[in-house]
Amino acid sequence: MPDHAIVQFFEDMGAEAYDRYNASFEATKNNLQFLNMLILTDLPEDANILCVGIGTGADIIGLADIFPGWRFTGIEPAESMLKGCQKKLAEAGFSDRCELIHGYLSDFNTDSKFDAVICLFVMHFINDVTERNNMFSDFNKYLVNDGYLINAEISFDLNSDESPGLLEKWQALHRYAGANEDNVRNIPGLLREQLAVLHPDETRQLMKKNGFHNPIQFFQSFLVRAWYAQKNR
Ligand SMILES: C[S@@+](CC[C@H](N)C(=O)[O-])C[C@H]1O[C@@H](n2cnc3c(N)ncnc32)[C@H](O)[C@@H]1O
Repeated sequence: MPDHAIVQFFEDMGAEAYDRYNASFEATKNNLQFLNMLILTDLPEDANILCVGIGTGADIIGLADIFPGWRFTGIEPAESMLKGCQKKLAEAGFSDRCELIHGYLSDFNTDSKFDAVICLFVMHFINDVTERNNMFSDFNKYLVNDGYLINAEISFDLNSDESPGLLEKWQALHRYAGANEDNVRNIPGLLREQLAVLHPDETRQLMKKNGFHNPIQFFQSFLVRAWYAQKNR
């Protein structure tokens, strides 16, 4: 079952506030986008890309600029975020190559196949184990053979020796982004009790179990890790 409370959080935050807060993480997000571009660079000139939890469109914008023949489908359940995304894609001149869908991946139904699925900063919000598994299974279903999945999420071992040090730096990051001290103090509890933070080995296994061979972790920035993997033939 999708977690409507999480989506309501993004709905209430809205696109402008989300982008304002994320501006502080721009260097990190640009690094991830740059690596995504390199990973996907061999896709066909007319590649079809599915972006799940598109937010305000960051997943699309960098790639659409570099690969002018690519088409994008973005799925996003929070309407205010999707409206912000629509506006940014229009301003960048990409609207005619992008289809935006308001809803969850589980509501999406198409016979189309995609050359890549991109899902950035979404999975740690998926508390329901079955839903999380189904999402990876759907990613697989919608990909062509050898198609790429790129998945970035908060993923680390909360009980490891590294955990207290990393959490401190994660708090510093959010303080830098403008979070108030109450929210900064609540971050460890939020990660433990409200988000679904998996050990990196579990995320890797989830990808393998759902038909992706040899997921490769290519990125880490404090608590965030990203993997790419290709669909099994
Ligand atoms: C942290 S934002 C990431 C947005 C964008 N991918 C980015 O990198 O800026 C997480 C997004 O996931 C969306 N989301 C939450 N639950 C979801 C679900 N079950 N399926 C798809 N998207 C979801 C939220 O509405 C929100 O826009």
